[in-house]
Amino acid sequence: MQCIAVINQKGGCGKTTVAMNLAACLAVQNRRTLLVDMDPQSHCAVGLAVPEEQIEHTIYEVLISAHSDASVSLKNIVWQIAPGFDLAPAGIELAALEPQLAGQDHREDCLRNVLAHEANDYDYVVIDCPPSVGLLTFNSLRAANEVVIPVETGYFALHGLSRQLETIQVLKQQCQQEITVKVLASMYDVRTKLAREVLSELRKNYSADMFKAIINFNTKLKEAASFGQPITEYEPSSKGMKDFMALADEILQNETCGGTVESVESQLMAISKSAIELLAESEILIGSKAAPLEHAEMTIEEKIDSFYGVRQKRDLVHFAALYPNAERVCLAGDFNSWQPDSTQLNPAGDNGRWAVEIPLSQGDYRYRYVVDGRWQQDPYNEKTVENEFGEYN
Ligand SMILES: Nc1ncnc2c1ncn2[C@@H]1O[C@H](COP(=O)(O)OP(=O)(O)O)[C@@H](O)[C@H]1O
Ligand SMILES: [Mg+2]
Repeated sequence: MQCIAVINQKGGCGKTTVAMNLAACLAVQNRRTLLVDMDPQSHCAVGLAVPEEQIEHTIYEVLISAHSDASVSLKNIVWQIAPGFDLAPAGIELAALEPQLAGQDHREDCLRNVLAHEANDYDYVVIDCPPSVGLLTFNSLRAANEVVIPVETGYFALHGLSRQLETIQVLKQQCQQEITVKVLASMYDVRTKLAREVLSELRKNYSADMFKAIINFNTKLKEAASFGQPITEYEPSSKGMKDFMALADEILQNETCGGTVESVESQLMAISKSAIELLAESEILIGSKAAPLEHAEMTIEEKIDSFYGVRQKRDLVHFAALYPNAERVCLAGDFNSWQPDSTQLNPAGDNGRWAVEIPLSQGDYRYRYVVDGRWQQDPYNEKTVENEFGEYN
């Protein structure tokens, strides 16, 4: 479970808009997602048309459970917003959490503990934070492994941002867990000179710690909230939707790369190492000299692209193989009734790499490649079983 906190102590910079629509887009991408509202103003419920008068229990009661007799669990309070998208709503009583827990041990870990025990069915938890630095924000930070700071590309943005980053830095030092902090340019109006300057300033200062995706100012996003819908439902063809899907994709991409900076690096080293080994191996196997790749100078994308074999990415399985001289490569297995021609791999780049992604849930499958009509064992998959022809699947 990945936990993303949307934080900025400045109000009106787009936190709630980002939290609601990012959560909706992650759910559209088949990630079971829980949006937790940690702002006593409970704007998420308003923006997602959850009737406030019918909310019986809120996140406050779940958080306080460990410190009180009443026990309310997360599943007692969630509202389903869309398939795979739930909301844990807030209420004004959440403002009382801080005074109520004053002096108690581990009061900053309430949300973290709740999520660790009760949110394991979710792939993503997105937390909408209040515009303040207090116990609620600290709880959110302690629970998170990723922090998104939406920054309005307007006048006071840069000043506010450096203060915000200082705060995060201080809080981060107090947190024991690894957190990735990234700035997200929000409410960007490309037509104004100021916004363009602020964006370029942000890119200059925070390039590595900034999302490539930006959230443009889009009136459809405002309208969507006033109609109580995420943008995925209100206007899926809007620019706002496109921006949020790009943000979700970027987050999902980081997920496949391993999340934190350190692990991306170590993972890339592992991928690049196995790619070099496999290339050498494949030269022997296919008897042709594969084009030597300059691994040291490859970009991240190239390193990942040079990976061969089989990888499970949730419900998709990615098959990649190196056949520089082939004209047609197909995949035949028990999942497609061993049809030699129905599932084609596509040429990927001009290095002789072929790849395809097919939907398959986790499990054991047997397959072989059919290269220009000849059945072959996948040289990049070390897991093999003998078949009835004395060859290997
Ligand atoms: N990208 C955007 N385009 C247009 N309006 C936006 C955008 N982001 C936020 N808004 C609007 O700006 C106001 C403040 O945004 P909100 O998400 O509530 O900020 P916060 O949660 O940080 O206080 C809301 O009315 C919201 O609809
Ligand atoms: Mg808000």
